[in-house]
Amino acid sequence: MFDVLKENYFREYYTNGFVETGMRLSNELVDEVKAHYATLAKGRNDFPKFFAKNEHQAYLEGKLIGSVFSAFPKLAEKMVKKLYDRTYSKAVYCEQACIERVIENLLEQDLQRFFKTPYLLVSYDIYLNNDHNHSAAGIHTDPPNFHHFYETENDVTLYIPLVDLNDENGGRIMVLPESKLKLPGNLLLKQLEEHFSKKASCLDEDGYIDPNKIEEKEIDEFIESEPYKELMDHYKYTIKMAKNHYGPEFVKTEESKGKVLLWNNKNFHAAEAWKKEEYNREVYVIRCMPIYNTRIKLKRELHGKLFNNYLINMKTGEFHKYDHQVDVMDIPEEHRLAL
Ligand SMILES: [Fe+2]
Repeated sequence: MFDVLKENYFREYYTNGFVETGMRLSNELVDEVKAHYATLAKGRNDFPKFFAKNEHQAYLEGKLIGSVFSAFPKLAEKMVKKLYDRTYSKAVYCEQACIERVIENLLEQDLQRFFKTPYLLVSYDIYLNNDHNHSAAGIHTDPPNFHHFYETENDVTLYIPLVDLNDENGGRIMVLPESKLKLPGNLLLKQLEEHFSKKASCLDEDGYIDPNKIEEKEIDEFIESEPYKELMDHYKYTIKMAKNHYGPEFVKTEESKGKVLLWNNKNFHAAEAWKKEEYNREVYVIRCMPIYNTRIKLKRELHGKLFNNYLINMKTGEFHKYDHQVDVMDIPEEHRLAL
């Protein structure tokens, strides 16, 4: 994150786990976001779509559900669906309907001032809704996965509560600062580059790896590779460490409706239980990432929806929307970050 955030903001992020941006969405814009998601079916939960070849593998392996999954995949799928249904009333990934309005609003509030990286990819959005009967998410991280493909340890999470998250309501996010414990995520992208650069069928005419050309069985092969297995072992132990030894080090935030928090969902985090019976906890998240000096293109679709199609030029504050994924080759090499 040192190359992503400007030094004073990096210091705040590194020691506290997040940056209090001072930015806020207007009540009207917050209500617009809420109204959009209110039109979507109650009980919709996109998390199970990520179960196969996913970011949660690291936790599930070794647990009961891990062994059930290999022996009885259908049963395990049902168990995972139940697990997420217990956590959220509604969880929607990659709707992309509110990204433009929200980012434009944040750029008007000088979003650029936080960033050292010359370009920031605005990848996709997430909406989370839970009532007081749904359990809060325990200590976890959202490590890189094959559905997004291009993720590292340096992701930028713009986290916008659509209701107040405070002592009275609960629902506050808790983050373990990077200075305490961190998962290595850049290594995964390096491993992917190393592995797939040798497969001609996965390369485009410029020799860049095109994740859109990678078939499922080729991902399966990668999952079986030794370097990846070693990395997953490391993830598993580190997650155990975070849960067993770092509990008191998590930093809690106090959030009000529309206030924008900047952090990194690759750091360990947890959500406090929601206490209000009268209304639900609602959070809107935009996931962003820097562009790296690596020969990997971006994926075009996330579960059938176009994503990775917004780019912010941090020097000029320009915000581009494309009808395809951002072409990393359009960005001069000197403006991409070293992996
Ligand atoms: Fe998370």
